[in-house]
Amino acid sequence: MIIAVDGPAASGKGTIARALARHFGLPHLDTGLLYRATALNLLEMGGDPDSEFAAARAAHIEQIDADDPELRSEAVGGVASRISAYPLVRAALLERQTRFAAQPGGAVLDGRDIGTVIAPQAEAKLFVTARPEVRASRRLAELRRAGRNVHLAEVLADIRARDARDTGRGAAPLRQAEDAILLDTSDMDVEQAIAAAIAAVEARL
Ligand code: C5P
Repeated sequence: MIIAVDGPAASGKGTIARALARHFGLPHLDTGLLYRATALNLLEMGGDPDSEFAAARAAHIEQIDADDPELRSEAVGGVASRISAYPLVRAALLERQTRFAAQPGGAVLDGRDIGTVIAPQAEAKLFVTARPEVRASRRLAELRRAGRNVHLAEVLADIRARDARDTGRGAAPLRQAEDAILLDTSDMDVEQAIAAAIAAVEARL
């Protein structure tokens, strides 16, 4: 069974995907990390984020350390969002994702284009979203916990900019697959969102 979880930044899709993987005993891939690792690699190589070729070269990554806090930084996220619009970057990261999805026992993948491009054959597709203001205040709480002194307006502007880039790009834009179940978590807490996601996947089995 493949479970595809897509949605915009800070929608809760990562938390939901991890919980689904645990619940159904499946391996999980956070595909955003591939774009973030590419961005970090590019920055470390001193490459130019405006160059599609430089970004595509940076996409050839052997190992990703998911625990590296640098990968989660806003700076890396911003560059990841820009370079993910390049078709050459997406092509370089494609096989790794389709291979993960094709594991015999199944898998959970979360990102922006899992249900539409990476695994259109997925048995269960969720499109997780929440109002931009709600996503911004969740992200703000996360950043403040990490000791960052940022303001809601700043975070909200960043989320809106990222939404516009992710949905407006030509290559694999963020959109809900036709057969995806919409899960709006705006008025749910984490437990409610996880329970709703599990119920939605079970209904597809
Ligand atoms: O989900 P996360 O914020 O970690 O992703 C970082 C960036 O990578 C996103 O802003 C998005 O532009 C890009 N991305 C993508 N396709 C995916 C996953 C992430 O374009 N499947």
